[in-house]
Amino acid sequence: MTWEFDGNPAPYGAAGPKQIQFDPTKPSPARVYDYVLGGKDNFAADRAAADQVLQVFPEGRELAWANRRFMARAVRFCLGQIGHVGQIVDIGTGMPTSPNVAQVAREVNPEAVVVGVDNDPVVLAHGRALVDGEGVRIVPGDVREPERIISDLSGIVDWSRPVALVFVAVLHFVSDEDDPHRILAAFRKALTPGSLLVISHVTKDGVSKATVDRIDQVYGNAPVPLILRTTEQIKDLFTGSDLLDPGLVDVHQWRPDDRFERRIDLRILGGVSRIP
Ligand SMILES: C[S@@+](CC[C@H](N)C(=O)[O-])C[C@H]1O[C@@H](n2cnc3c(N)ncnc32)[C@H](O)[C@@H]1O
Repeated sequence: MTWEFDGNPAPYGAAGPKQIQFDPTKPSPARVYDYVLGGKDNFAADRAAADQVLQVFPEGRELAWANRRFMARAVRFCLGQIGHVGQIVDIGTGMPTSPNVAQVAREVNPEAVVVGVDNDPVVLAHGRALVDGEGVRIVPGDVREPERIISDLSGIVDWSRPVALVFVAVLHFVSDEDDPHRILAAFRKALTPGSLLVISHVTKDGVSKATVDRIDQVYGNAPVPLILRTTEQIKDLFTGSDLLDPGLVDVHQWRPDDRFERRIDLRILGGVSRIP
């Protein structure tokens, strides 16, 4: 299929990629995250959900920013690894809070091709208005439909050349029933050797019971529940690729360039691997 996104968040009509319904009365992952990062593109329901967690886990904002800095370091690292043809596909790209993947990538390599994919119409609208442009595309897609994403992007991403595939803070919104392993296997099949996978994911290991209980209470019945996985389960997501140094670690410990990075209660683990 030829990719021709004309700015309409749902260019494929009813048969298009899955998108969540816009509903300002229910929290959405992208808008909650925007609020936690200090953004303004969120509603009362998003703020209420985030505040309930921040009550027992006040370092939440700091953790979100540690994750954001991990993303920036990982993208710079990937561009250094995959050479001149910098292709970055950022799945679950989120609100384009600065610095976002596109900004970081194009700063390192102004020729980089960056595609952000998301299933939230608010993200698509903001992304289209703020970052879509020269070398950067924001397109609808649901991570649970990997084959469709691969084929929809084939007009802008050359899958026969190395790609950095970024899943920052998105796979913990994919349930076991939707099978993250199946999803990653499908993407791995499309990636040429030398391509890179970037994953960050919330873990429940080493996290206080009060925080885990509050997350279960707030997000257990949310339209898009947050799934806390163990370190082993997250490591398994890299199956079929070689985890690069320093492996899967707390995001603030992944090749830190700031001595103030510190460990906090709720943990997000991050790593980068290479397709052999
Ligand atoms: C916590 S935000 C992270 C955003 C961005 N990756 C970052 O680190 O700033 C999670 C993002 O994943 C998106 N998302 C959640 N489930 C998704 C799915 N099934 N398919 C595509 N995107 C999804 C949400 O809409 C949201 O933008």
